[in-house]
Amino acid sequence: MERTLTGDLRVRIGKRVRLAGWLHHQRRLARLTFVLLRDRAGLAQVVVEDPAVVEQVAAWLPETVIEVEATVAESEQAPAGVELRDPAFTVLAEPAEQPPIELRRPELKESLPTILDNAPVALRHPRRREAFRLAAASVRGFRAALDRLGFTEIQSPKIVVSATETGANLFTVDYFGRPAFLAQSPQFYKQTMVGVFERVYEVGPVFRAEPHDTSRHLAEYVSLDAEIGFVRDHFDVMRVLREAVAGMCEAARKAGFDAPEVPTEIPWIHFADTGVDDVDLSPADERRLCEERGAEFLFVTGYPMAKRPFYTHPEPGRPEYSNSFDLLFRGLEIVTGGQRLHRYEDYVAALDGNTAAFEGYLQAFKFGMPPHGGFALGLERWVARLTGAQNIRETTLFPRDLNRLTP
Ligand code: 4AD
Repeated sequence: MERTLTGDLRVRIGKRVRLAGWLHHQRRLARLTFVLLRDRAGLAQVVVEDPAVVEQVAAWLPETVIEVEATVAESEQAPAGVELRDPAFTVLAEPAEQPPIELRRPELKESLPTILDNAPVALRHPRRREAFRLAAASVRGFRAALDRLGFTEIQSPKIVVSATETGANLFTVDYFGRPAFLAQSPQFYKQTMVGVFERVYEVGPVFRAEPHDTSRHLAEYVSLDAEIGFVRDHFDVMRVLREAVAGMCEAARKAGFDAPEVPTEIPWIHFADTGVDDVDLSPADERRLCEERGAEFLFVTGYPMAKRPFYTHPEPGRPEYSNSFDLLFRGLEIVTGGQRLHRYEDYVAALDGNTAAFEGYLQAFKFGMPPHGGFALGLERWVARLTGAQNIRETTLFPRDLNRLTP
């Protein structure tokens, strides 16, 4: 008999089916037991009445991998209005011990460190799992939106010879006896590839030796990067970013999640008009600006050059500011972007003549690059904002941070 998923039971009422999954929970009553079976689609309730089968089931630990043949019946109390009756079970695998996480609860009660320490089991919880289905839908939407706009997807090396982002720390790698680093971003390669494809994007891991233990920083995260040639300034980049984010929201809604409608024109404010007397916004500033404007999405443009990486294009006429932006979503920075320098001599000047470590990168500019710009969105932060998670570790499968390298 072909396997049926728990999500497809409604169209099988009256039929005998075969399900397979995990023993999510069993509820024992005086004369019968309810078995909750979990598969990739959801949960199904199996009613066990035969005393011999009740006894068989009673011996199983949660997370026992089972197969069951049973008859589908309508039931008002059961999930999705159906339950399974007259079951015959087969055990496919027995857990070695009692699972460390109680998956049966609608919300996990364990602390975040316990949940993360036991991620291989905790991730099976329906709510935890959903965050990563939302991440997958978001990435699908990002790709689809940019594919429609003529972008080419690239994969750049993650072992590199130089820093790309000032301020963010590097992990050192022993590369056959030579020092190398884990890439902080695909910045140099995505710019270089503008010289090839004009419009490129990449979805991949980036590495930051992040010394701060915060709820919004990881040592490894997934960066959704794009770079666009032949722009007039950063506002052209912001328009493409708006399309990418709208595509991500659309794909999320299609997958059954709540995601906002992205306004056709996302409001923006220049850094000089934020009232902030510093070179960067604090997390509190980000929250305040979104609240003041009543905006879910808000661009802050024109960050001071002092806080932006060397490849940033200054603002014409006001060189202390830059043609850059951040996108704030529900009070949190989720994207950084901007227009880049594109003339070779501007790079030599920006690097103060220290070009040796950047030779590969500078080749692109030596041989003609158009005005261009791009952006990078942190996937874990995005999903955390959409789900309301307070800590991005909740939206990271296996977080890497100052204190955590396993599981
Ligand atoms: O602001 P960042 O460092 O910018 C860059 O990487 C540039 N290359 C972008 C560009 O195209 N010019 O990082 C961009 C985004 C942030 O807005 C944030 O969402 C996320 O990446 N991010 C982090 N997410 C988790 N942990 C960290 N340590 C992060 N650092 C940045």
